[in-house]
Amino acid sequence: MKRTALITGGAGFIGGNFLRLVHEHTDDQLIVVDSLTYAGNLSRITELLKSSRITFIKGDIVDTKLLAELFQKYNISVIVNFAAESHVDRSILNPGTFIKSNIEGVYSLLEAARKSWLSTEGRLFLHISSDEVFGSLPAQASSFTVESRYQPSSPYSACKAAADHLVRAWHATYGLPVIISSCSNNYGPWQFPEKLIPLTILNALEGKEIPIYGDGLQIRDWIHVEDHCRALLKIIQRGKIGETYLVGAQQEYTNGDIVHKICNAVDDFKSIPRGTTQKLPIFVDDRPGHDRRYAIDNSKLSKELSWMPYHRLETNLPLLVEWYARHHAWADEIRSGDYMKYYERQYGANKI
Ligand code: NAD
Ligand code: DAU
Repeated sequence: MKRTALITGGAGFIGGNFLRLVHEHTDDQLIVVDSLTYAGNLSRITELLKSSRITFIKGDIVDTKLLAELFQKYNISVIVNFAAESHVDRSILNPGTFIKSNIEGVYSLLEAARKSWLSTEGRLFLHISSDEVFGSLPAQASSFTVESRYQPSSPYSACKAAADHLVRAWHATYGLPVIISSCSNNYGPWQFPEKLIPLTILNALEGKEIPIYGDGLQIRDWIHVEDHCRALLKIIQRGKIGETYLVGAQQEYTNGDIVHKICNAVDDFKSIPRGTTQKLPIFVDDRPGHDRRYAIDNSKLSKELSWMPYHRLETNLPLLVEWYARHHAWADEIRSGDYMKYYERQYGANKI
């Protein structure tokens, strides 16, 4: 049966990749709402916007009037909420926008759905959350599960945690049909160039210094964005209302390792001797409140919804280097104006 899905943040990195997948694999009518912040970019989804099944609306999820109009105009049965400020470093510089979009925005969406959905039949509010809500995992500890305690460390993760609590409360109190999915670090095409992997690839391709925070021994658990998006499709199709699913590909690497591997991949891509690009990484001031390790136990998702990741980071990094080299013009366009101001503030002379 054809449904209408509201996809917020669909012009972002994960939202754009998800839009492509859901458009390809379903007949759903897709309403995309995105306020096009510095991180939102329609060039990620230019081709898709030609489809008669996709409607793009530039708008803010905080805007209750807009949301009420959308629910009145379209028979929305599924909401997938990607819209958020997503960068930890920016949340440290300017937490206010995170409170607004990541908490107040989620509250507005929950209320819009609650007021419009008179029946829960066939409805779903899927909220996209993060493994960062669980805080820093000790080196020897087992991976996060849905039972792990919430201990967020940054303004970003605290806002994501607050939003998760709101989503669960709207389920418990009002019976809103919600699911939360919490994912680990994504990599893949179209990621905004200020995140670790695209930033390292682009700086390495351009022969610029590559900033590593602190000692570079922090561990992240990496998943390809397509694997994340396939998991979300499964959750929409077969997930159980009221549940939380953790999404991760069980690929833990230190940041130093990631940078090292990218440098080798860039040397191979440029056909220059391995080791040439290894001169670029430099250690800079650590991120305040920097979580040491994240790791996801994905067994609930794999057992209950028969999902498994296809992509391996090691084999994907060379492909990603090629992708960012081919899309250099896209990255250049983004890395002008305000981006350069951010870059200077984050990595300026006193830090690098
Ligand atoms: P992104 O920053 O690339 O994209 C976010 C999108 O949301 C942008 O298009 C932006 O314009 C839009 N947006 C921001 N505030 C908005 C608002 N108030 N109203 C409407 N649109 C708004 O982020 P991403 O990496 O694609 O992350 C998407 C979601 O997934 C976020 O909720 C993030 O917390 C979560 N997440 C990300 C990762 C990751 O590794 N990137 C991992 C786990 C969870
Ligand atoms: O774990 C999921 C989270 O992953 C998501 O919820 C966030 O939205 C997403 O941005 C990502 O957060 P991180 O803070 O882990 O991603 P980032 O790419 O900013 O940093 C990855 C690691 O690399 C982190 O330990 C900080 C480090 N780092 C990052 C940058 C940008 C550096 O050492 N140098 C850098 O210049």
